[in-house]
Amino acid sequence: MNFEELITERRSVRAYKAEPVSHDILEKILKEAQMAPSWKNLQASRCYVVESPEMLEKFRELALPSFNAKSSSNAALIVTTFVRDLVAFTQGQPDTELGNKWGAYDLGLHDAYLVLAAKNAGLDTLIMGIRNADAIREALSIPENEDIVSVIAIGYRDQNPSLRPRKELGEVVKFF
Ligand SMILES: Cc1cc2nc3c(=O)[nH]c(=O)nc-3n(C[C@H](O)[C@H](O)[C@H](O)COP(=O)(O)O)c2cc1C
Repeated sequence: MNFEELITERRSVRAYKAEPVSHDILEKILKEAQMAPSWKNLQASRCYVVESPEMLEKFRELALPSFNAKSSSNAALIVTTFVRDLVAFTQGQPDTELGNKWGAYDLGLHDAYLVLAAKNAGLDTLIMGIRNADAIREALSIPENEDIVSVIAIGYRDQNPSLRPRKELGEVVKFF
């Protein structure tokens, strides 16, 4: 699949086949996601992968609201976090007015690579921002110095969603 096909054919998929994603494919995708640029190459993004069927069932119930649990059933789940007070911080002080938003920015780049790498491997994804961060932290023993951001479902699609409309370029871009 060429790059243009990748970016135009990726969709948020909310129905997955009961076909597990192999551990090796998950590792390949996670390694490709590491190729994303990051502030001073700090690589503060972290992933917690829930792949065992027994854990997935329990995790979905405790970590996701029912609509996201339903959308992601049969998929593996990747929790993404970033280390707080590290990206764009010097000796504990923020380098810019954006503070920890730079950590979130780096994680967003990482996750964009991740969903495209998944697509390239024949898989689809759903980024979920509605999740129970406290329950996730406890279930996966995520350290307190990491901010829990998204849960990404990854699996083999069982639906073909159409492209959601994008704004006209002129609405969101200004050329000078
Ligand atoms: C940060 C973020 C959080 C999102 N959270 C959810 C969510 O909790 N549940 C859901 O069904 N979709 C969620 N989405 C998916 C968006 O609704 C979707 O990306 C958008 O409608 C565009 O559709 P597309 O991804 O198919 O192009 C989220 C997407 C992003 C980037």
